[in-house]
Amino acid sequence: MGYRLNLAPRILLLHLTLLSVTKWSESARVFTIVNLCDQTIWPAITPGENFSGGGFKLKPGHSIVFNAPVGWSGRIWGRTGCNFNRTGTESCETGSCGSKLKCSASGKQPVSLAEFTLASLDFYDVSLVDGYNLPMTVTPVNGTGNCNVAGCVADLRRRCPVELAVKSKGKVISCRSACDVFDSDQYCCRGDYGNPSTCRPSHYSKIFKKACPTAYSYAYDDPTSIFTCTGSDYVISFCSYKRKKPV
Ligand SMILES: *[C@@H]1O[C@H](CO)[C@@H](O)[C@H](O)[C@H]1NC(C)=O
Ligand SMILES: *[C@@H]1O[C@H](CO)[C@@H](O)[C@H](O)[C@H]1NC(C)=O
Ligand SMILES: *[C@@H]1O[C@H](CO)[C@@H](O)[C@H](O)[C@H]1NC(C)=O
Repeated sequence: MGYRLNLAPRILLLHLTLLSVTKWSESARVFTIVNLCDQTIWPAITPGENFSGGGFKLKPGHSIVFNAPVGWSGRIWGRTGCNFNRTGTESCETGSCGSKLKCSASGKQPVSLAEFTLASLDFYDVSLVDGYNLPMTVTPVNGTGNCNVAGCVADLRRRCPVELAVKSKGKVISCRSACDVFDSDQYCCRGDYGNPSTCRPSHYSKIFKKACPTAYSYAYDDPTSIFTCTGSDYVISFCSYKRKKPV
C-alpha cells in the first residue's frame, strides 16, 4: 500500500513535467538576432520582458537567442552609436528610446522596424514608414505556409534623397520618411488621403520600395509587405547585405 502511495505522486510529477515541456515548445518561438554590421548595435525590443528587458548590446558578428512566447505582439529595431553614460535625453545616434539601454518606449524616428504578432498564424513585417536606419531582414525558419523573407538587404542610407538624409560627421546615418519631413496629408496618408485608394506610392516611397521590395514603404503598402507563417522560428538580421545567409 505504502509503495503505491509513493509511486503515484512520482508518476503524476513525470506527467506534469512532460506536459509542461510539450506546452512550452508549442508556446514559444526561437528568435535569433544577428548583427552582421561592421559596427556594434544595441537592438531594442518592446514589450521586452522576454528579451533581456527590452535592449542589449550586440557586437559585430555576434548573435543572441530568445524564446518569444506565442501571444507576443511587438517590435524590434536596431540602435546605433549608443553611449548610455552620456547625459541628456538621447543615448544613441539612431533609434533611441530615451536615455535607457532597456527600452519600454518606442525608438526615435527615423528607424527601421520589424513588427510581429505571434499566434496560431504569425504576422510579421519590416516597416520603413517611420524611416530607415539599418538594413534589416526577418527570415522565418522551420515554419509552414508562405513564410517569405521580409525587409531589406539594400543600404538605403547610400540612396537616401538629400532632403530626407540625416547626417553626422558628414556621413548619412539614417533616412527620414517623407511624412516626417514634409508633414503633409498626402505623404502621411491622412485626411483625404487616409485610405488605400487615395494614398498612393509617392516619389519618395518608391525610392524606399526599390531598395527594400519586401518592406512597408508607406502606410498602405500591405499587399507586398505583410507576411504570414505558421509555427515558425525567426532570424532577425541587421546588415545582412554583408553576407548571403545569416550565420
Ligand atoms: C516570458 O516572460 C514571462 C514573465 O517573466 C514568463 O513567465 C514566461 O515564461 C516567459 N516566456 C518565455 C517563452 O520565456
Ligand atoms: C559607462 O560607465 C560604466 C560604469 O560607470 C563604465 O564601466 C563604462 O566603461 C562606461 N562606458 C563608457 C562608454 O564610457
Ligand atoms: C529549427 O528546428 C530545429 C529542429 O527542431 C532546431 O534544431 C533549430 O534550432 C531550429 N532553427 C531555428 C533557427 O530556430
